[in-house]
Amino acid sequence: MKAIQIQAFGGPEQLMLTDLPVPQLNAGEVLVRTEACGVNPIDWKTCSGGGAAPFIGELPFVPGWELAGTVSQVADDVTDLKEGDRVLGVIRFPERAGCFAEYVAAPADQLAICPDGLDSTTAAGLSIAGLTAWQALFDKGELQPGQTVLILAAAGGVGHLAVQLAKWRGATVIATASAGNHEFLRQLGADRCIDYRDTDLSREISTVELIIDGVGGDTGVAALDCLADQGILVTLPSVTKDQLIAAGEACGKRVLPIRVEPNPDQLGQLAQLCAAGSVKMQLADSLPLENAGKAFEQIASGHTRGKLVLTVA
Ligand SMILES: NC(=O)c1ccc[n+]([C@@H]2O[C@H](COP(=O)([O-])OP(=O)(O)OC[C@H]3O[C@@H](n4cnc5c(N)ncnc54)[C@H](OP(=O)(O)O)[C@@H]3O)[C@@H](O)[C@H]2O)c1
Repeated sequence: MKAIQIQAFGGPEQLMLTDLPVPQLNAGEVLVRTEACGVNPIDWKTCSGGGAAPFIGELPFVPGWELAGTVSQVADDVTDLKEGDRVLGVIRFPERAGCFAEYVAAPADQLAICPDGLDSTTAAGLSIAGLTAWQALFDKGELQPGQTVLILAAAGGVGHLAVQLAKWRGATVIATASAGNHEFLRQLGADRCIDYRDTDLSREISTVELIIDGVGGDTGVAALDCLADQGILVTLPSVTKDQLIAAGEACGKRVLPIRVEPNPDQLGQLAQLCAAGSVKMQLADSLPLENAGKAFEQIASGHTRGKLVLTVA
């Protein structure tokens, strides 16, 4: 089968289209014929030696933690899935999963059934960003109807889905993005948009119950001024989580880091919302698997609107 593989940590030039054996199944697994796999910041960070690199073991490494496709084989002990089922999933994160490949051996209990009407590109792009948004808003952030949530990096993969899920839950949404993304965010339901490039957030916003921090670092720390005393800031970028936790402790505010977890129940609900048109996955671009390097250049720019997806022929 064809797969994208790195032999050494580095930039997009390290991504090589390679012939590899189709994976053998272990107990509890199914073989998925990949139709699409999503590209996330964690992919380029890990391939450059950061991100999840401490969890992936020895190189070589096939990146990718989310996919959509069709089950082509099932292990003897798997009863919930069968050959021909269309599935989507976030698998094995943060350990190696190898989704940038034509075939993937996936744990059956980390996959959700893809509803009719949801195409594979949308399903793959929805998975990590959607689950992260869901777990940040509802599991960590305990968002309630009527509360106000501030979403930093609202136009990105996680942010644009968080805007819609927060509105679905009945919250008021304040979104940060550059001005060119404001109309896009208003159409997704954002009640107020702020251009982070020329605005001091603490002067504009008094107190919000929840902040979803998709930027981290000094930007996340500065946003703590906008948080109500009993509020929660959920910070997404793991590289600056210790800085955020320390800043929260210093000012008596609650800061929670997050690591997205595979969860087929939540993913199934997300997929249903998307199939019904209640949540829209904005496709920034879809590229063939062999153009993974180009996708890495785009995602590393930090200015993707929505999600990047690789399609597998
Ligand atoms: N912990 C976890 O489990 C987990 C899971 C998923 C993602 N993450 C992390 O969360 C972060 C966001 O992920 P993502 O997939 O949404 O990334 P992404 O799609 O690459 O985010 C791109 C967006 O960030 C916006 N942006 C950049 N700088 C900004 C700033 N200073 N203020 C406001 N917006 C800004 C850009 O908007 P403009 O173009 O308008 O500037 C762009 O739309 C990444 O660091 C990622 O690694 C963590």
